[in-house]
Amino acid sequence: MTTIKPPVEPFRIKTVESVHLPSRAVREQVLRKAGFNVFGIPAEKVFIDLLTDSGTAAMSDVQWAGIMRGDESYAGARSFFRFEKAVRNLFGFEHVIPTHQGRAAERILFEGLVKKGDFVPSNIHFDTTRANVEVRGATAVDLVSDEGYDPDSDCPFKGDMNVAKLEAFIAAKGRTRIPLVMLTVTNNSGGGQPVSMANIRKVSAVCRKAGIPFFFDACRFAENAWYIKRREKGYARKTVAAIAREMFSHADGATMSAKKDGLVNIGGFITLADGELAKSLKSILIISEGFYTYGGLAGRDLEAIAQGLAEVVEEDYLAYRTAQAAYLGALLDEAGVPYFKPAGGSAIYLLADRILPDIPREQFPGWALTVALYRESAVRAVEIGGVMFGHKDPRTGKMVFPRLEMVRLALPRRVYTAAHLSYVAEALAAINRHRDRVWGLRIVDEPRFLRHFTARFEEIG
Ligand code: F0G
Repeated sequence: MTTIKPPVEPFRIKTVESVHLPSRAVREQVLRKAGFNVFGIPAEKVFIDLLTDSGTAAMSDVQWAGIMRGDESYAGARSFFRFEKAVRNLFGFEHVIPTHQGRAAERILFEGLVKKGDFVPSNIHFDTTRANVEVRGATAVDLVSDEGYDPDSDCPFKGDMNVAKLEAFIAAKGRTRIPLVMLTVTNNSGGGQPVSMANIRKVSAVCRKAGIPFFFDACRFAENAWYIKRREKGYARKTVAAIAREMFSHADGATMSAKKDGLVNIGGFITLADGELAKSLKSILIISEGFYTYGGLAGRDLEAIAQGLAEVVEEDYLAYRTAQAAYLGALLDEAGVPYFKPAGGSAIYLLADRILPDIPREQFPGWALTVALYRESAVRAVEIGGVMFGHKDPRTGKMVFPRLEMVRLALPRRVYTAAHLSYVAEALAAINRHRDRVWGLRIVDEPRFLRHFTARFEEIG
């Protein structure tokens, strides 16, 4: 019996959505039908869905009330002005451009700034920012600190950028080839780790000196600000909103997926200081997303985001939110299940190659763990390892694997209780005890791009 205390949820439940645990026989059938790919499993057959924390939040009663208030005017809706005010209040930039989600914000910003042959440094680019840089014929460069790749380091800000590397990179390529520098907060592709204010300040100073615009990929800005409050000297007495404003005061703008720290199911935006650039981004926006006061969203969505941004910086919420991941982490520690330390704000990243050391990288231990987890418990997680990022080197014909073989347990915001998390931890403890019952896999059908979404597998063993 564990003595680890679960965090108490700072809300009570007003509406419920039923979930059902399918029987073992059904789970087996479902896995086979999906070609052992959890992306192919109908959500109805999933008991606890930890595939992503994006667009999966539970909205508050006040947000739902806002949905009723939505002003659906094509131009100049009241909802837009409420949304604009909420974004300005936290981010501090004059211009606010709504988009339907984060990747649309990225595409539009890069269309306005990035040319063929350019380089865009970040701590670690998320897949969609990388793809949106590369589709412009430019190169996305990851310059995270060395600790950012070390799953055992207990450094409190493993999302920090290596500033010396950034300076050397700017000196080598020349500032004209670098249209912007980005920082992802928190660093989703690097274990969900935060970036410190000290690092933000330094990156900003380097960019200002070189005359390069500096933008945040701000999806999880509130969790990042919370970690600054808790872990960085001098911030304990500041509010999270004030810390967020300070973070953004060092930058020229941000792209945002409101599906994360906007506490909504759809939406995003670009916000920035430069009026000329904003003007040109708005004309790009109108071609594909819509008029600049709705940008592909309904008025009601803008209302929900405006309220979500107020709720996400509440300290009761953030204390509970980050304690949830830490609680799951502590249960996994107790069961001896290794994960990337410290626990991230929005997810736990399991170290699949350590949990399943007998499965070689060629047989995808991370993928095998997602299959085992569904089989054991109908819990869905996502592999971030050899299937997602592995590829064949065209020159040598050999497989190249990413440094880390991980499985992400992403926590939807305000959706699952501590009991759900202890169920997940128990399932993982059982898999960890009976690792000889988990098999590697081979790919039997593979698409040309982004193979993890649709590839089919068979088990080896
Ligand atoms: N940037 C980061 C750091 C992200 O994590 C995501 C999405 C995006 C940008 C793109 O935003 O989905 O609204 O277009 N991450 C999701 C995830 C998909 O599961 O981590 P979007």
